[in-house]
Amino acid sequence: MEIHGNASTLWPTPPTETRRRIVLFPMPFQGHITPMLQLANILHVQGFKITIIHTEYNSPNHSNHPHFTFKSISDRFSEITTADLDASYCFKYLNKTCVDPFRNCLAELLEDYSDEEPVSCIITDAGFYFTQAVADALKIPRLVLETSSLGCTVASDILLSLSENPSFTLPKEGDHETLAVEFPPLKVKDVRKGTRDPKGMGELVINMHTQMKASSGIIWNTFIELEEYALETIFQDYQIPSFTLGPFHKYFPASSSSLIEQDRTILSWLDTQAPKSVLYVSFGSVARITELEFQEVAHGLANTSLPFLWVVRPGIVSGSKWLELLPEKFLERVGDKGRVVKWSPQQEVLAHPATGCFWTHNGWNSTLESICEGVPMVCSPCFVDQPVIARYVCNVWKIGVFLEDGFERGGIETAIKRVMMDEEGQEISKRIGRLKEKMNISLEKGGSSHESLKSLVDYILSL
Ligand code: UDX
Repeated sequence: MEIHGNASTLWPTPPTETRRRIVLFPMPFQGHITPMLQLANILHVQGFKITIIHTEYNSPNHSNHPHFTFKSISDRFSEITTADLDASYCFKYLNKTCVDPFRNCLAELLEDYSDEEPVSCIITDAGFYFTQAVADALKIPRLVLETSSLGCTVASDILLSLSENPSFTLPKEGDHETLAVEFPPLKVKDVRKGTRDPKGMGELVINMHTQMKASSGIIWNTFIELEEYALETIFQDYQIPSFTLGPFHKYFPASSSSLIEQDRTILSWLDTQAPKSVLYVSFGSVARITELEFQEVAHGLANTSLPFLWVVRPGIVSGSKWLELLPEKFLERVGDKGRVVKWSPQQEVLAHPATGCFWTHNGWNSTLESICEGVPMVCSPCFVDQPVIARYVCNVWKIGVFLEDGFERGGIETAIKRVMMDEEGQEISKRIGRLKEKMNISLEKGGSSHESLKSLVDYILSL
């Protein structure tokens, strides 16, 4: 298995084989499976035996992880059509359908492993809030993996308390571009959106955060130097141990957890491009855009005349197969300057010297991966945590430009050129380069993430 960097400086000395087992349970979506499997690998190198319980839906490929034991449970996901369902519905559905299968599977495992390799704890995705009650009933400690940022957790708690406060009134429409007094990384318009709750997201967040507080600890895929200000609030509000040992993918590559086959042919095309000349475009594994937005993206890309690599995930526009909605003669117009693929080896693309900018939806994994390679961003957040992450990127860390007016070809061209051609882009590049250095230091011996991993291992061994 490949390990980035010099392994001896990245890893705390592993304890001798612990013969202790950890059972992990990821949410079945790419942005959640990837960090959970990375965490499992990190803990495996630290001497723990690993069992992954997973749903049938989006099952990880077992053969990519021969050193883990896998147990599949029924989820009844096939009974719903996911095409038009939102994240909060899917999360709540799985929190109902998985209860019995998960409890039965875990009880069996605890029984099976009780003598030889006792289970120290379970680690479940924060989205699987039902697992706390199961862990309590079976008397096994539960740690939580929160796959988003510390800042997002703080922001969602604040937005929730505002929406539940009867004396809170939504700010006036005209003020929407000013920073919100309640939480200044956000603009007034973000608070306006975030305190409306048309899809029951609030109920989901309450359940997740209540059960996080009841758990034995939270593991974050972040590093302290990036989010120090939020960590203090988390300590105060959650009052349980927090471990910030990220970014996980710097310990292991993520390709082995990809649910979709990655098109690696584009790496040789990148080799032919000038340093920092290529714009990489991807909106992650779940976001959808409209047909009109898709066409505006295409026009915006063509109008910049810059080389680009665009990930068009089949189905990103509801009902579309793949490229049939592109504007007429688009591929002929861009010629060899533009490449379109279904799915890319994203971490390698971002690490490639030819990549100069990432137009992203700001999923937390994509954002961290961009920071780790020092690639400035153009931000088009879609939903859930992404709008808050994008505000941090643009207003707090100042390492990207926010596409405020959505997908419109003129605004797209301007934003990309600001990052890739203007002096402003050079400043952004310097700032993200400094963050990348801090991240590297955090992973070295004595660094914050390195120390946090040691604390996590000691903590699990003490349970
Ligand atoms: C989801 C949510 O949307 C996100 O907001 C949340 O923080 C995590 O779960 P997703 O939308 O898929 O995830 O985005 P992201 O978190 O960025 O994860 C996408 C992963 O897929 C990344 O690890 C990225 O490297 C990988 N990827 C993406 C590829 O391997 N190839 C691609 O072409 C695109």
